[in-house]
Amino acid sequence: MQHKKTTVTSPLIPPLEEFIPYLEDIWERKWLTNNGHYHKELEKALADYLGVEYISVFTNGTIPIITALQALRVTGEVITTPYSFVATTHSLWWNGIKPVFVDIDPKTCNLDPNKIEAAITPRTTAIMPVHVYGNPCDTEKIQEIADKYGLRVIYDAAHAFGVTVNGKSILEWGDMSTLSFHATKTYNTFEGGALVCHDAITKQRIDYLKNFGFAGETTVVAPGINGKMDEVRAAFGLLGLKHVDKAVEKRKQVAIQYRESLKEIPGISFMEDIPGVRHNYSYFPIFVDENEYGMSRDSLYEKMKENNIYGRRYFYPLISQFATYRGLDSANEKNLSVSHEIADSVICLPMHHELTDSEVGLIINIIKE
Ligand SMILES: Cc1ncc(COP(=O)(O)O)c(C=O)c1O
Repeated sequence: MQHKKTTVTSPLIPPLEEFIPYLEDIWERKWLTNNGHYHKELEKALADYLGVEYISVFTNGTIPIITALQALRVTGEVITTPYSFVATTHSLWWNGIKPVFVDIDPKTCNLDPNKIEAAITPRTTAIMPVHVYGNPCDTEKIQEIADKYGLRVIYDAAHAFGVTVNGKSILEWGDMSTLSFHATKTYNTFEGGALVCHDAITKQRIDYLKNFGFAGETTVVAPGINGKMDEVRAAFGLLGLKHVDKAVEKRKQVAIQYRESLKEIPGISFMEDIPGVRHNYSYFPIFVDENEYGMSRDSLYEKMKENNIYGRRYFYPLISQFATYRGLDSANEKNLSVSHEIADSVICLPMHHELTDSEVGLIINIIKE
C-alpha cells in the first residue's frame, strides 16, 4: 500500500472552533487593519513570549528585512551568507546594496566569523548573518567585529522563533533581528513576520516605515512601504501562541527519534543540540557523505520521494549560484567551498508537530536500507 504523502513541514493550525470567537470579535469591531486591537495585542504578547522589549509585526518576513536596512540607513556593501533562503540577499538588492558573500562554519551552517574581516572594505556598512535552522550564530564574535569596524548587524532570524541562549532571547543580539511567520515556519500567521529592535525611538521609526512613512494624518517622514499586518492574521497569531510550545515539544521528540536511529548509519551526519540553547526544532537537516553512505544525496532524495517522503534540499542551490548573484566576485565557488560542500550534501527531513511514529519509522528505514 502506498503510504500518504509526508511533507517536510505541516502548518500549525489550531482547531477552527477556537478561532471563530476572534473572527466574530473582528466582525463586531469593523477595524480590519492599521494598528488595530489584535495588532497591538499580538505585539504585546510576542514581546512577552519572546522576551524582547520592542517588536513590530509585519505582513511577511521579507518586508521587515527591507525595512531594517532602511531604518538603519544601510548602504554600500553588506557581508552576508550564501547559505539561506533567497529573501535574505534579495532584501539587500532591493535596497541597492551589494551583497558580499562569506563562507559558513560547517558545524553550524552559519556565517563563519573568522572569515568576515577579510571581506570588509571601505564600503562595508553592515553584517547580515542568518541563524540558519534556528541555530544561533556566534553572536559575540560577530558583535566584536562589528564594534571594531563600526558596522551595523542585522540578524535574519526567520528560523529562530523562540530560540534562547542561556535563557536570553537570541533576538537581543545585533541592532535588529527579523522573524518570519510564514505558513511553513514553527510559528505562523499564514503569512507574517516581525522586526525586533532595542529602543522606543527606533520602534517608532519602524512603525512609520511600515505604514508608508506616515507620522500622523498629514505628515510623511520617509519613503515608507506597506508592511502592516491585518487583524485576522494578528488574531490568528495570538491563538497560535497558545499552541506553539506543544508543537515545539512534539518536534523535539521527532528530533530525538531521528538522532537515536540515524547515529548508527555510516555516512549520515546531523546536528546535535547545543548546551544552553533552547532550540525550536524548525528543521532537521542531515548531511550525506556519498562515499561512506554508498549513495549520493540526490539519489537518496529521489528514493525518499518514490516512497512519498518529501524532504527538501535547504539550502541548495546556494543564493550565490542564482543568476542574479553568480556574477559577483564573492560568489566564486573558491570563496565558498564549505557552503558548496554543505549545499551538495544536505537533505532536510520532514519535521513537524503532526508526524506520526510510523512516518518517522518509515523515513528512518528508507535511509537505513
Ligand atoms: C532565512 C529566511 N529569511 C527570510 C525569509 C522570508 O520570509 P517570508 O517568506 O515570511 O517573507 C525566509 C522564509 O520564508 C527565510 O527562510
